[in-house]
Order: sequence, then structure tokens, then C-alpha cells
Amino acid sequence: MERLQKVIAESGYTSRRKAEELITSGKVYVNGNLVNTLGTKVNSDDEIIVNGVMIKREDKVYYLLNKPKNYVSSVKDEKGRKTIVSLINTDKRIYPIGRLDYNTTGLIILTNDGELDNLLAHPSNHIEKTYIARLDKYLDVEDILKFKKGLVINGRMCLPTRFKVKTNNKTNNYSVVEITITEGRNHIVKNYFSELGYKVTRLHRSKYAFLTDSDLNVGEYRKLTIKEVHKLYACKYQ
Ligand code: URA
Repeated sequence: MERLQKVIAESGYTSRRKAEELITSGKVYVNGNLVNTLGTKVNSDDEIIVNGVMIKREDKVYYLLNKPKNYVSSVKDEKGRKTIVSLINTDKRIYPIGRLDYNTTGLIILTNDGELDNLLAHPSNHIEKTYIARLDKYLDVEDILKFKKGLVINGRMCLPTRFKVKTNNKTNNYSVVEITITEGRNHIVKNYFSELGYKVTRLHRSKYAFLTDSDLNVGEYRKLTIKEVHKLYACKYQ
């Protein structure tokens, strides 16, 4: 079930705000019944008529992309940079779930399913994301312990589910760490390491929930299977 105004907006008929206005001004019918209250939910079989026009609902599509560097995780970019949406060959109006920074590589889901977007983006669902971060310095033993115990970032605790040092190279003064977190705050991994004075020089998301990058090279994408989509929905109950 999805909110009526959202379904109208996602059909491309109008914006979410305008859809709300159309509902409250009595221009929307669901299965022949006038609906003029916001918050009404509809399912995929409901017939929606707005201003006498039947709303065409898109089939849901789901893609898993291994994002390359130098792409923006959005539908459009005001600076004219390349977007990850442009990498996917589809005529559906898809958008990414969450974000990866411009210079971050790795897994990101693109879809036109707003319900899945809400579910995965909601902090209460604790979706695990694993990142491989290359740091500009050799890791101090004490700092490793601090990173494992969690740090307060911008006033809020961030506690990794897993923290594993993959490489700690004293001679060349760099390290590589695998970190798993459930949060989705912007730049959270970079901010986490910069809290103790480390700079992330390369960042890759290798795992998103149960999905791994093992079958996708950077720049490649594939459709999610129905089974995988169901499993993502089931993350809500885990
Ligand atoms: N954390 C970051 O700092 N950057 C990303 O792209 C993702 C997580």
C-alpha cells in the first residue's frame, strides 16, 4: 500500500504537493469513490482518476549498480555532472536509494519503488552497509580500539557492527579497513575516520544488506531478482 499523493506524483501526472492539493480539492477518485483526505493508501490494483484522467502506474523496477567514480547519486545535477541514473538503460523514472559520494564507488540500488526506498532509508530498519576504506595513514593501535568502540559524530553515536583492518602498512604509511555500519548519514564513513585525524583516500561500498559486489564490476549493473526484492522487503522484520 502506498500513499495516494505519492502514487499520483510517481505517475508523472504532477508534483507531490500539487497531488495533495488535487486530493483536498475533491478532484481525485479511487475505484469510483471520491477521496479528499490526505493519507489515504492505495494498492497496485486500485483505479485512480484525477481530473477525469486515469493515472497510469508504472511497473516497479529494481537495479543494482556498482557505481563508478565521478558520478552523482541523483537524478539530475545542477552542476551538469554525470548522474548514475544515466548509466541505466530504462525508460522508467528511477532514482537511487540513498547516496554515495561523487568519488565513492560501490553498490547502490536504483528503483521507482518509493515504498522500498522509504523502508531501506529508514534508520529503524538498520540495513547493514559494508565499506572498504583506504586511509591516508598507518593505523595506531589505540585508534583501532577507539574505532571499534564507536565514536560520536556530529553529536550522535556511530557504532560499527564490524571493523576489520585489512592492511596496515607502516612503511608506506597507509591502511585499508573494512567497516560495516547501519547508518545512512551523508559522508558518515569519511566523518568517522576524520574524527581521529584520518583521511579516506578511497571508498568503496562492497555490500548492501545481503547484496554483494561479487558479480558486478565497477560500472556494471543488473536487475534485482524478485527473490532479492522480497528479501529486501523482509529486512523490515529482522
Ligand atoms: N560514507 C561516506 O563518507 N561516503 C559515502 O559515499 C558513503 C558513506
